[in-house]
Amino acid sequence: MSTTNSQYRLGMIGLGTMGRNLLLNMADKGFSVTGYDKDPKMLAKLEEEGKEHQLKGFGDIEAFIGSLKTPRTLVLLVPAGQIVDNVIQEIKPLLSEGDIIIDSGNSYFTDTTRRVEELAEAGLHFFGMGISGGEEGARFGPSMMPGGDKKAYAEVKEILEAVAAKVGSDACVTYIGPGASGHFVKMTHNGIEYAIMQLLAETYQVLKQTLGYSNQQINETFSRWNKGSLQSFLVEITAEIFLFKDEKTGNDLVDMIKDEARSKGTGKWTSEIAMDLQLPVPIINEAVSNRDLSKYKSLRGSLAALYPDQQTGEAQITEQELEQAFYVAMVTAYAQGMHLLWQASKQYQYELNLAEIAKIWRGGCIIRAALLEDIYQAYSRQADLEHLFLDQQVAEKLSSAVPALRKLISDTALSGKALPAYSSALTYFDTIRTERMPSNLIQAQRDFFGAHTFERIDSEGTFHANWNNL
Ligand code: 6PG
Repeated sequence: MSTTNSQYRLGMIGLGTMGRNLLLNMADKGFSVTGYDKDPKMLAKLEEEGKEHQLKGFGDIEAFIGSLKTPRTLVLLVPAGQIVDNVIQEIKPLLSEGDIIIDSGNSYFTDTTRRVEELAEAGLHFFGMGISGGEEGARFGPSMMPGGDKKAYAEVKEILEAVAAKVGSDACVTYIGPGASGHFVKMTHNGIEYAIMQLLAETYQVLKQTLGYSNQQINETFSRWNKGSLQSFLVEITAEIFLFKDEKTGNDLVDMIKDEARSKGTGKWTSEIAMDLQLPVPIINEAVSNRDLSKYKSLRGSLAALYPDQQTGEAQITEQELEQAFYVAMVTAYAQGMHLLWQASKQYQYELNLAEIAKIWRGGCIIRAALLEDIYQAYSRQADLEHLFLDQQVAEKLSSAVPALRKLISDTALSGKALPAYSSALTYFDTIRTERMPSNLIQAQRDFFGAHTFERIDSEGTFHANWNNL
């Protein structure tokens, strides 16, 4: 393909809102960029929104590819799945050795592994780059998690750092690692996102039902929390939700929304792969399960009628105790996500730098939060820290807040209300600090009925007992 008149440094494929916004962000930062979309309406929108930069898109793939400087950099912002493969098939014959394709959708990481390998055979660099921050983030500064060939990253580093969110002078993007590591890290980000959202939903339930707060008071509580150590994007938007009025009825919109949660699947992927890696992330599992349970509305209605009042005690929790309990549960959600990354890094040789990952999550992304600074510091103190709870400073903060979580769970259990993610956080904390678990009995049972053998505390090797010979 001829490269005469090639002028653009980067080309975006897929000019939906995310693609357009990211392209506009790049143009704002002074990069010469262009886009491609089959849909003329998307091209018209790009021209309209990018008129200050005279941003013109292409509807012809050959002309689009020909307009890019070599080595070419192409960013895909198309729906994950088969469409990514279709686009790759379409552009591959038009590309040359050394060109870079960056898939910025929420692709499943094993698809990315396959694509990296297939395209490497043709001399092409394929990056899986998770982007977080939604449409606003893409336009004004997302957090980005690019994984792929390290040398090729040098070609795109400047643009990515320019468009990323900033915390002080730190850009919320870093080279994550080889292969599909970028998409793995973004998937884990979403798992943590699911966990914190579930914790916030449970907090709302306690504030409303146990403390009897109005929506206005719930807004004030979350707004207050957002000024302290719980400061985070999800707490901030949750506070705002409680002030929003429904145009149709004039009621608070939150009260008019069905209690059935949907999902696109990244939380489920996190739980699935955590099970495959035998690295438990139980708060994330609870968050996924509870989105699913929420959909069984009529069954829940029948069971609510069958088992109406289960209360055997009064919940005495205060707002301050709830705040401390939320802190513990939130740290635990991050701890589980970071632990999963620690394990995945070994399993897939991603060589993840957990401090850098916590650092780029401090801004731009959905799980950005003040306490990521503590997490960043913990992994900076010890790069190979096996678990966040081992860090001395984290341990001190956790230890002083755990009693509030314990009270929340015991009180709420007596009042007959469910707090699945909070309960899971406490159970996890109490389990992971148990030196001798009762799992010796499970080994004995397995050996009893299936001769699966067991290991002894006093000698090496595997053993079997004739359990029937009592
Ligand atoms: C982000 C979000 C983004 C998207 C989620 C929604 O980081 O910007 O995580 O990727 O909003 O995928 O996920 P669910 O539909 O599964 O809740």
